[in-house]
Amino acid sequence: MVQLNQQTYSSYLQDRYHRASEGPLTDFLSRRNGNLYLGNQINLNDLARRFGTPLEVVYYPQITIQVQRMHEWASRARQETGYRGQFLYAYATKANFAAEVVQTALQAGAHYETSAAADVEIARYLWQHEILPRDRLICCNGSKDANYLGAIRRLREDGCTSLISVLDDLDELDGLQSCPLPLQLGVRERSAGNRDGHHLGNDRFGLTEAEIDQVVTRLQSSPHQLVLYHAMIGSQVEDRDHFLATLHDSLVAYCQLRQRVPTLRYFNFGGGIPTSGYTLDFAFDYQDFLQQLMIAMRDMCARYHVPMPHLIGEFGRYTVANHSLYLIEVGKVKPGQPGQPDWYLMNGSMMVSLPDSLLVPNQQFVVLPLDGWEAPVHPVRLAGRQTCDSDDVYPRPTQPPLLLPNTGTGLVLAICGIGAYQQMISGRGGAHHCLSPEPRRISITVEGGRLAMQSRPQQDQAAIMRLLGYRPQRVAPPLRLAPRYKTRRAYSQSV
Ligand SMILES: Cc1ncc(COP(=O)(O)O)c(C=O)c1O
Repeated sequence: MVQLNQQTYSSYLQDRYHRASEGPLTDFLSRRNGNLYLGNQINLNDLARRFGTPLEVVYYPQITIQVQRMHEWASRARQETGYRGQFLYAYATKANFAAEVVQTALQAGAHYETSAAADVEIARYLWQHEILPRDRLICCNGSKDANYLGAIRRLREDGCTSLISVLDDLDELDGLQSCPLPLQLGVRERSAGNRDGHHLGNDRFGLTEAEIDQVVTRLQSSPHQLVLYHAMIGSQVEDRDHFLATLHDSLVAYCQLRQRVPTLRYFNFGGGIPTSGYTLDFAFDYQDFLQQLMIAMRDMCARYHVPMPHLIGEFGRYTVANHSLYLIEVGKVKPGQPGQPDWYLMNGSMMVSLPDSLLVPNQQFVVLPLDGWEAPVHPVRLAGRQTCDSDDVYPRPTQPPLLLPNTGTGLVLAICGIGAYQQMISGRGGAHHCLSPEPRRISITVEGGRLAMQSRPQQDQAAIMRLLGYRPQRVAPPLRLAPRYKTRRAYSQSV
C-alpha cells in the first residue's frame, strides 16, 4: 500500500498497461506535451479549459477512420487469402442513430443495417435524398411487427432493390410474401446466438433449421429470392479463436444451404467485432480475424463445392464507440469508509451518460485523467453528483476501484468509448434522472479540409421543465456557467 501511494499515475500506466506517458495510448487516443488528444487531432485539455466541464466531445472523423481501416484490412485479407467474394461493411445504426453519425459512416462507404420500423424510415429518407447511395445494401434485422414490415414494403415499393429483409420469424414471411415486387430475403440462424454462451439474450433471434427449410420451400413458388444467411454470435467478442470456432457450424450451414439454394450469395456474421474503447488492455488483430474467417469460409466452400459468398459484417460499436467521449470533473472528494477507496464526486452522471455501466455486468470504459500524471495514484470510485442515486457509481462496487491521481477536486477525467449505444439507451434530448442536464456538446467535423467545431450549449432549466410539461414564465439562469463559445467556428488546424 505504501508503495502504491508513491507510484505516480504515469508509472502505474507503464507498469499495468505498458503505456508511456507520451505517445499512443489506444488506436484513437494519444498524449503529447502533457495533453491528451482524441484522434491525434483534438486537444482535450484545451477543450476542457475553453468550455469547462461536463463536456461531450464528438469527433466525427474518427468514424471515417474506423470504416476506412476495416476496408483496408479486408482488402489485404482478401489478397492474402485469395478470397473471391467481396467484403461489405454495414453500419449497425442502432449503435448511434444521430444524423451526422449515420451520414459520416455512409460517406465512408458503409452499407446500412436497420433494427426497427423507424430506422427503415430514416433509411428511406436518406435513400430518397441519395445520401444513402442506391448501390448500398439495406439489411433489415430484428423481430418485425406490422409497422416494421410495412416500412420495408414501402421502401421496396419506392423502387429500392438493394433491400434485404432478414427473416427473424416465419410469420414475417406471411407479411412479405404478398408483396407484388420481388424481394431479396435473408434468414437469421437461431443457433448462432446460442453457441457463444456469453450473450444469452441472443437466443431469441432467428429461425431454427426446420424453419429455414420451410422458408426455402415457400419461396420456391414465389418471385422472391433467398440471398443472405445471417449468423451473429454476440457483441464485443475479443477472443478471435472463440469467435471463429463459434461461427464454424454457421459456415457449414451456409454451404449446405447454398447447395440447395443457388440464389444465396451473402454470409452475414452480424455484429460482435470489438472496440478498443473499453480497456487499455485491448488487443484484437482485425486483419488477422478477417483473414482467418476468409480462410475458413474459402476452405468450407471448396469442401462443399459452392462459390465463396460475399461477407457482410454489421459494425455497431466498432464504428462509433470511439468517436465521442465525456469530460467530467471531480467536484469534491469524500473519504471512503475505513478501508474503502475515496469517492470522487463528479459534476456529471455516469448512469445517465454511460448507462451500460449499470446494465452490462462488468462493463468497462477507458477512463484517463487530463492532468496529474506525475501525481501519486490512489484507489477511487466515481460517483455522479448530478443524481442522488446510490447506483450512480463507476466502477460498480463488485469491481476493483480505479487508480487515479490523488489531485482531487478539479481533476478532469476523459471517459471514452461512449459513442455506441450509451446515448441511444439513455435518450437524447430528454429529461433525465434527477434532471441531470445534458452536457455541452462540442461536435467536430471536417469541412473543406479543415476541422470545424460546433458547440451546443448545456441543456438548460427551461428546456427540462418544458419537456416535463411545465410552462415556465421565467427561468433560472443556466445550471452551470461554462465559458461561452460561438457556434460553427473554424478550428485552428487543417487536416
Ligand atoms: C443484428 C445485429 N447486427 C449488428 C449489431 C451490432 O453489434 P455490435 O455493436 O457488436 O457491432 C447488433 C447489435 O445488437 C445486432 O443485433
